[in-house]
Amino acid sequence: MSQRGPSPIAEKRVALVTGAGRGIGRAIALELAAADFSLCMVARTREQLDDTRALTGLPKERSLLVLIDLASEDAPAAVMQTVLDCYGRIDVLVNNAGWAPPRTSIMKMRAEDLDRVLAVNLRAPIALTRLAALKMTDQGCGAIINIASSAAQKTPAGEAVYAAAKAGLIAFTRASFQELRLDGIKLSAIVPGLVDTSLIPQNKRLVRALMLSPADVAHAVMQVVNSPARACPVEITLEPQFDPERSR
Ligand SMILES: NC(=O)c1ccc[n+]([C@@H]2O[C@H](COP(=O)([O-])OP(=O)(O)OC[C@H]3O[C@@H](n4cnc5c(N)ncnc54)[C@H](OP(=O)(O)O)[C@@H]3O)[C@@H](O)[C@H]2O)c1
Repeated sequence: MSQRGPSPIAEKRVALVTGAGRGIGRAIALELAAADFSLCMVARTREQLDDTRALTGLPKERSLLVLIDLASEDAPAAVMQTVLDCYGRIDVLVNNAGWAPPRTSIMKMRAEDLDRVLAVNLRAPIALTRLAALKMTDQGCGAIINIASSAAQKTPAGEAVYAAAKAGLIAFTRASFQELRLDGIKLSAIVPGLVDTSLIPQNKRLVRALMLSPADVAHAVMQVVNSPARACPVEITLEPQFDPERSR
């Protein structure tokens, strides 16, 4: 009979999940932990990351927390350095952290909000993808999953910059896939409709029970993680069965 016990920590696959403190990012972290990944979880709110870590059941040495504002230009390099110093590898990157201000006309949007939307939803994922791809190319494998939004296609009034950032993220994912697939790296954009999280403000016109759940998006992430590199789902669109937006 085999005497093999659990594999040592150094042999575990490693996933970096941004925005893992709540909502969709937390659900993704839980799925990856259940699949025996070691995690690096990024956000700005310590208590929420602590709660996610506790829910994963992972020991501290397999659940690194990085408190950082991804809108800062230096943040992606600092995060990747921390992951590689701690684990020495990266198998999965999930660019999930995202932010949008309340719906506003493009003429009234504050300049600092415009910069922040582009930095968090587009610049940071691009920078992290480039850094992860360098390591994954050496490893000969890896998966990079970008959480976009149906706002990219539905282009709702009041969300022009957020929609543009998410449309840019989808285009970036597809174009990067053309390059990186040759190195055995999977790239995928997940494009969800409304998901019941704190990002979506309470609104009488929205039926929250009809929205997607964070777990629905996490399952799509695992579909990419588990797919073979030769048949990567480059884009997954997720829509609720029934429209959560009540018509008047
Ligand atoms: N909810 C939806 O209906 C929906 C639909 C389509 C796509 N999405 C996308 O799905 C992703 C997750 O959204 P969600 O609904 O789960 O949102 P959420 O509940 O607001 O969670 C966002 C996560 O990102 C982190 N985050 C935000 N800004 C950050 C920053 N500057 N630096 C570091 N971390 C930051 C937040 O933590 P801190 O605030 O502590 O930093 C939090 O952990 C986003 O990319 C969003 O655009 C959401």
